[in-house]
Amino acid sequence: MIRPADTAALQDAAAWLRRGELVAFPTETVYGLGANAWDAHAVAKIFAAKGRPATNPLIVHVASVDRLGYAISDKLPAEMQDLVQSLAPFWPGPLTIVVPRHRRIPDIVTAGLDTVGVRIPAHPVALALLNLCEFPVAAPSANPSNYVSPTCAAHVERELGAKVAMILDGGPCQAGIESTILSLVEHPPRVLRAGALSAEELADRLKLPVATLLRPASQASGVKHSAQSAPGQLPEHYSPHTPLVFAHEVDMQTLPSRVGRIVFRATSPLFVQAAEIVRLSDDGDLRQIARGLFAALRELDQRRLDLLIVDTCEEEGLGLAIMDRLRRARQRTRPGRADLPQKD
Ligand code: TXA
Ligand code: MG
Repeated sequence: MIRPADTAALQDAAAWLRRGELVAFPTETVYGLGANAWDAHAVAKIFAAKGRPATNPLIVHVASVDRLGYAISDKLPAEMQDLVQSLAPFWPGPLTIVVPRHRRIPDIVTAGLDTVGVRIPAHPVALALLNLCEFPVAAPSANPSNYVSPTCAAHVERELGAKVAMILDGGPCQAGIESTILSLVEHPPRVLRAGALSAEELADRLKLPVATLLRPASQASGVKHSAQSAPGQLPEHYSPHTPLVFAHEVDMQTLPSRVGRIVFRATSPLFVQAAEIVRLSDDGDLRQIARGLFAALRELDQRRLDLLIVDTCEEEGLGLAIMDRLRRARQRTRPGRADLPQKD
């Protein structure tokens, strides 16, 4: 099921995709669950395997800027074409753009929107696979809907192994957190999801203030498109099953006995003789923290602990994406949030 990504495995993987089957593959962000994006039947298998609501659109992956036309409309307005061109230095890389879709992309991929999210991943295995595919590959993160994204092949196998034709193993993901999603159909462009490419780097390139890129949907000026981007804002929880709190919220009076602790620094307080401790970096290095975060959440989630206590970081640069994921993971745990979907 899991195969090292050698030439034969890559060819088999492309053949499975061509036949309308699912293949999980590594990217620099997280592992993706891929299907031929031009094949609505194949894409339906992604939604079934993940238990994903049909209202949540998928990101489409291509091998190169030359192939963006597999997914993007061939009638982009000139200024949008210029924007796409100006972002080319970030590719291959963890940037997804939302642009008008090509008519060949079926409704199921975009949840019926006229826009599509597209990216060129920077992992050599993903690029080799996409190069063998004469079609674009739709791929959400390869986890059951709302669970923590996978950053190695074993994570995919654990939950989705029985539902895919093959898992290509390309080792642990370098970034460890999903791509940054930038909508180009809003004026000015807007970050819909913080991710592995920092908003600061994007703002530099687009010559816009960070706050403009990060403004909430309600303040987006592209009124015509704000309804369209709403499905991209669906709450995804990335949640472990174990309740999670932030270190600064810990109430020593009510701490349960079996606690897991994820620390970002060597100097972080432990609070208790924690049953399990994962240290993601010595000095708060955000790249290292992002790289190890999902694996740490998954690992501790298997230990039957009563509570996970996790450090926090400044919401700047990569810290914005890290805190976004942690907040979503914590949400279900918060008192008064009975409105949120419960697992188990
Ligand atoms: O790093 C990543 O982006 C990974 C790897 C596998 O490439 N993929 C990923 O996909 O994170 P997924 O399905 O877990 O997240 C896709 C999100 C959707 O939930 C939605 O928020 C947004 O992308 N999205 C996709 N198409 C969109 C569109 N047309 N308009 C607005 N948002 C869109
Ligand atoms: Mg996901």
